[in-house]
Amino acid sequence: MRNEAEYVWPTSDFTRIPFGIYHDADVYEQEMHKVFRGPTWSYLCFDVEIPNPGDFKCVNIGDTPVVVNRDKDGSFHAFINRCAHRGSIVRREEFGNAKDHTCVYHQWCYSLKGDLLGVPFQRGVKGKGGMPKDFDVANHGLQTLRVENFNGVIFASFSDDAPPLEDFLDEPICKHLKRLTHKKVKVLGYQRQYIHGNWKLYTDNTRDPNHGGLLHPFQVTFGIARLTHGGGAVLDKRGCHNISMVEGDSDSEEDASKAYEDSGSGAYMTDYSLHDTSMLATQKEFGDEITLSIMSIFPNVVFQQIGNCLATRQIRCKGVDAFELYWTYYGYEDDDAEMTAHRLRQANMAGPGGLISMEDGEAVEIVHRAIKREHDKHSVAEYGGRGEIKTQDTLITEVPMRGFWAYYCQLMGIDANGAAA
Ligand code: FES
Ligand SMILES: [Fe+2]
Repeated sequence: MRNEAEYVWPTSDFTRIPFGIYHDADVYEQEMHKVFRGPTWSYLCFDVEIPNPGDFKCVNIGDTPVVVNRDKDGSFHAFINRCAHRGSIVRREEFGNAKDHTCVYHQWCYSLKGDLLGVPFQRGVKGKGGMPKDFDVANHGLQTLRVENFNGVIFASFSDDAPPLEDFLDEPICKHLKRLTHKKVKVLGYQRQYIHGNWKLYTDNTRDPNHGGLLHPFQVTFGIARLTHGGGAVLDKRGCHNISMVEGDSDSEEDASKAYEDSGSGAYMTDYSLHDTSMLATQKEFGDEITLSIMSIFPNVVFQQIGNCLATRQIRCKGVDAFELYWTYYGYEDDDAEMTAHRLRQANMAGPGGLISMEDGEAVEIVHRAIKREHDKHSVAEYGGRGEIKTQDTLITEVPMRGFWAYYCQLMGIDANGAAA
């Protein structure tokens, strides 16, 4: 293994990404500190998932287990799910409700704020054993994180140096997040997917709207997202987040089939049809023409709108070679039964076996396998042009992906100045 600074970045605009960066265990170790515990904010969950005092949920930031809970006064606290005694996981359930958190190992008990409340047999028995007299529970709480709630979406940060959440997200992301949470959210269910590839291959995938009109024949064939549609990708000021958007009514079948035929792509399969097309019937619910949006928020979450199928996809790292994708499907509290059924019907397009997103997991894995021994080679990311990283008015672009790498390298202390070309 070698230091991440030794990888060659032949261009300073991130149009070349060294394959070794996806397979290096030392790089992965540094990412856990500099990216996930660095001056960033990570998505945890929706506040409605823990609606009552004492409700908690266990998540991950990078590969660190984290508990987020609601206190008696309604406020939220998050802490590392690691006992201050000898380091055990404290909460092993995915969800629950509790007045406090007691570690199973020696039963140290913590408050909903993460403060240590009590230690069994602290004074020993009959004057023997127990903790030293000067042991002070006040010094042995759980390690807490900063928490912010943006319109019902909870984020946390390990770092005092992280800017306020809204500054980190920046205006376009805040605006789109408000769009997606414009009413009180109702969670509809979860799916979990284990992908055998490096987590950054997935952040590349969701920042590459170009693949959406090529890798996914279902959405091309049935007009959900094609490269002939209007749309583009809006970037934040750092370029690390982005929203890829598709206007689904902006092309015609004739123009689309001709464009795909002319381009040599087989993604538009004109001889395929559906007996039941109800899955395709998207209702416009946000007062705009955007029928599909994929918002990638650095570093760990995607907010998805595929028609009326709304979901978050949380990246939970499992080492350099794998990650879990944790899907949370949602609608709104005022949805009627028909709308909920429609959202769930459209959920067949997303998730581990989704008619569309099934291919994304596979794409990550086939890249991961092929580049394993190619540390000195590079991917080519030139769709959308070279040079400046900025908002795109086309779907045929990889510029948002380069925005991820620019900010990633800044956090990791990598100088991709192109000097090694
Ligand atoms: S490790 Fe938690 S109480 Fe000992
Ligand atoms: Fe995809």
